[in-house]
Amino acid sequence: MQLTFSLATLSDAPFIESLLMAGARKGQFNSRLLSHRDRVRKDVQSMIAQQRLLDSPLYAEAMICKVGQERAGFSIMCGVTDFPNGIEIYALGVHKAFRGQGLGSKLLDELLYHWLARRDIYAQCLAASEQMFQMLLHRHFEFLFTLPGGARVLHCQQLPHRARA
Ligand SMILES: CC(C)(COP(=O)(O)OP(=O)(O)OC[C@H]1O[C@@H](n2cnc3c(N)ncnc32)[C@H](O)[C@@H]1OP(=O)(O)O)[C@@H](O)C(=O)NCCC(=O)NCCS
Repeated sequence: MQLTFSLATLSDAPFIESLLMAGARKGQFNSRLLSHRDRVRKDVQSMIAQQRLLDSPLYAEAMICKVGQERAGFSIMCGVTDFPNGIEIYALGVHKAFRGQGLGSKLLDELLYHWLARRDIYAQCLAASEQMFQMLLHRHFEFLFTLPGGARVLHCQQLPHRARA
């Protein structure tokens, strides 16, 4: 199985959008996405084409993970208001056909390898994202607090010389 990670292009936008919507239906991503589909579409396109969140100066970067030629997963990283040295795991998902084969772990490890040398990393996990919450705890993230909406916020400090896991 040949696994590749690359910056997303506009042709990947419908795949990312469909995984965001599927996750929102299951409570793994914010359920507000469901009633703002047009906004989500424009936001994903902006992240890919402008590397910015829509209507925001914050940096954003979407990655695609492929198995052979098939899209299997994605990640979105974005800047954090008030923390210029921070970057947030905005969303990470694996298509259900590819789950349980270690792909989510590899995608996350790839992000950490790239970003932890440069930034502190933040993440928010809703209750339905317990698996992701555990994955982050396994990778030296610390749980900070729970937001009023129920999302648990985690943080991992920048490690300039972190070795690939
Ligand atoms: C969370 C998600 C990305 C995991 O992807 P995946 O490819 O299925 O996961 P993997 O096979 O790589 O397994 C990931 C971890 O879960 C563990 N795991 C796998 N099956 C498990 C199970 N049944 N019970 C508990 N842990 C399990 C693995 O051991 C691995 O742990 P580790 O790498 O920390 O040691 C995927 O389920 C998904 O896309 N979910 C919907 C979106 C989502 O919840 N995103 C996170 C919010 S941002």
